[in-house]
Amino acid sequence: NDDGTQRMLEAHQWLSKLYHHLLVNTAEGKEALHYLTERGFTREAIDTFQLGYAPDRPGVVATFLEKKGYHPQEMVKAGLLSSTENGEYLDRFRGRIIFPLRNHLGKTVAFAGRSLGDGQPKYLNSPETSVFHKGKLLYNFDLARGYIRKQNTIVLLEGYADVISAYEGGIKGSIATMGTSVTPAQAQLMNRYAEKVIICYDGDEPGIEASVKTAKELQKAGIQVYIARVPNRQDPDEFIKAEGGDRFKKEVLDTSEPFVGYLMRYYRSRYNLQSEGDRFDYIETVIREVAKLDRAVEREYYLQEIANEFSLSLETLKEEMAKWRPKQKDLGDNQSQQRYTKRSESQTS
Ligand code: CTP
Ligand code: MN
Ligand code: MN
Ligand code: MN
Ligand code: MN
Repeated sequence: NDDGTQRMLEAHQWLSKLYHHLLVNTAEGKEALHYLTERGFTREAIDTFQLGYAPDRPGVVATFLEKKGYHPQEMVKAGLLSSTENGEYLDRFRGRIIFPLRNHLGKTVAFAGRSLGDGQPKYLNSPETSVFHKGKLLYNFDLARGYIRKQNTIVLLEGYADVISAYEGGIKGSIATMGTSVTPAQAQLMNRYAEKVIICYDGDEPGIEASVKTAKELQKAGIQVYIARVPNRQDPDEFIKAEGGDRFKKEVLDTSEPFVGYLMRYYRSRYNLQSEGDRFDYIETVIREVAKLDRAVEREYYLQEIANEFSLSLETLKEEMAKWRPKQKDLGDNQSQQRYTKRSESQTS
C-alpha cells in the first residue's frame, strides 16, 4: 500500500544520512573514508552521491530506525535487515562502503555496499523490494536526465564508481545498470530520453563481450548504438582518474563508433576472409546486422562499404538484405511516431 511505500522510502533516506555521517564525521568511518580518498574520490563527489559507511557492528540499523518509529519487520521488508533462524536480526550491510541507489525521482530505494578490500562479494546489493526493481533502475538517472535530454545522448557505463568519476570529470550524462546486463525495460526507458547511447564498458574481456550483448538489446528498442573502448583494459573510472575527464571525452567517447562498424571488425577477426566459404558467411552475417538498422541512410552506407570491399553490386546486397528486414508491422508505427515527437521536442527546448 501507499503508506508502506512512503515509509520504506523514508527509512532509506534516514539510513543513507546515517551511513554518510558515519563515513565523513566519525572515527568508525575513517578507514573507509581513507579508502575512498586514496581512490581519488573528492569530498564533493562523496557528498553529491551521498556515499556512506556501514560499520561492522551489530544493531546499527535496528537501533537507529527503531528510534525513528520503525518495526524490525519493516526493515526486513525493506531489505535492510535479515532475520536469522533464532529470531535475531542482522544488518544486511556490514563493514562496507555504501552507494545509495536513487530512482529517477532522486529517492533512495536501495543500497549497494562495496567491500573495503578483497572481501567477497565485491558488491552486495539490496534485494528486490516493492520500491527497488533491479531490472528497471538506472543508476544516476535522476542527476543525468537533464544532460541526457539536452545532448540527446546517454553514456552507459558499467559501475557506480565509473559514473561518479565521469560526473567529476565533467561527463554528467552518464548512467549504469547494476552490472553488465540491460533489460528490455531499461532499454525502453533509455529510448524515451535519447536517440543515441554510447556504451562504454570496462576495457577487459568481460566488458567487451557484454558490450555486444547490451548493444543488441538497445538496438531492439530502436536506439542508435555506439561503442566506445577504454584502452589498456582499464575501466572508465581508472582511465579518468589517470588521464582526466577531458581526455576521456576526446579519446574515448568522441572516438566511439557505430555498433555495426564495430561488429564488422569483431566478425572480421572471427572469420577467415581468405576462404571463400567464410567470406560468404561473413557477408551474410553483416547484412543481417545492417538490416536491423532503423535509418535507411545508415543501411545504405554499410551496404556500400561491403559492395566496395567485395566487388558486389549494391542492388544484389539490397535484395539480400530485404530478406532480413523486420516487417513494417514489427517496427511499429508507435515507435517512429514517438521518435518524431521527441525530435521536434528537442528542437524547441
Ligand atoms: N557488480 C555487482 N556485484 C558484484 C560485482 C559487480 O553488482 N559482485 C556490479 C556493480 O554494479 C559494479 C559493476 O557490476 O559497479 C561493475 O563491476 P566491476 O567492474 O567488477 O566493478 P567496478 O564498478 O569497477 O568497481 P570498483 O571500481 O569499485 O572495483
Ligand atoms: Mn567490470
Ligand atoms: Mn530511439
Ligand atoms: Mn570496473
Ligand atoms: Mn572500477
